[in-house]
Amino acid sequence: MLSILSTQHDLKNYIANKIAAGKTIGFVPTMGALHEGHLTLAREALAENDECIVSIFVNPKQFAPHEDFDKYPRTLDKDSALLEDIGVQSIFAPSVDVMYPPDFQSSVTVGNISKPLEGEFRPHFFTGVATVVTRLLLLVGAHKAYFGEKDYQQLQVIKALQRDLAIPTEIIGVPTVREASGLALSSRNAYLSPTQKDQALTIIRTLRHMADELKSGQPIAQIEATATENLLSAGFDKVDYMTIRDADTLLPPTPTTKSHRLLAAAWLGQTRLIDNIGVSSK
Ligand code: PAF
Repeated sequence: MLSILSTQHDLKNYIANKIAAGKTIGFVPTMGALHEGHLTLAREALAENDECIVSIFVNPKQFAPHEDFDKYPRTLDKDSALLEDIGVQSIFAPSVDVMYPPDFQSSVTVGNISKPLEGEFRPHFFTGVATVVTRLLLLVGAHKAYFGEKDYQQLQVIKALQRDLAIPTEIIGVPTVREASGLALSSRNAYLSPTQKDQALTIIRTLRHMADELKSGQPIAQIEATATENLLSAGFDKVDYMTIRDADTLLPPTPTTKSHRLLAAAWLGQTRLIDNIGVSSK
């Protein structure tokens, strides 16, 4: 049976009982509006642990005032049914006051890895994510926590904070789940019209084309410029970045770069889509 926990006290009691019974705990932090990508994380957590706990919390700290916090889909009943179906045992669904009591005054800022790309275009974002994820990891105290590679830079930021702050939970990255068309699953796909969903496919097609061009030795600046042009011609309104980076630093590649990450962020109307793929070169 699925337990829905909403206070720090209930969460702590629930986890303490499981730990006392010798159970291992896998944790999947989410903002809800669950899709197959989230369910894949939960299935992985269930396969590797006795218990899976999923948090559902739309974190106000990671949205700027002009972003989509208010319209972000909130579908707790549907999410609970999906999780119960796959055997998840518990959900932590706190209110904003539980996560951030009135005297809450701390924040977690991660250094270099959070500065390029999303850090440039959404300067508030990673401090919001790092603060909520740190608090969640410490509250839950799971053995392992699962995050999607769809948010590749976010995963690197979370690995850095876990290492730097010596948080005992192991961080596991899980490959992006895609529709058969190649479109990366995202809760924000719900904002897209059928035409925009077709246009959105240009992102993954272009990333795959960029990977081929990179492997065939074409200059990076030229690959990036053509890719950006490609998205704009397909009807994207704005391209924040369409770029090839060192997979470890997320800075432009250097002669010592071992593997590359190709990352995209672009706007279709009011919807900002991101995606990425990896290319190993050595
Ligand atoms: O990727 C997400 O859904 C969110 O950024 C996370 C990790 C749950 C933190 O709010």
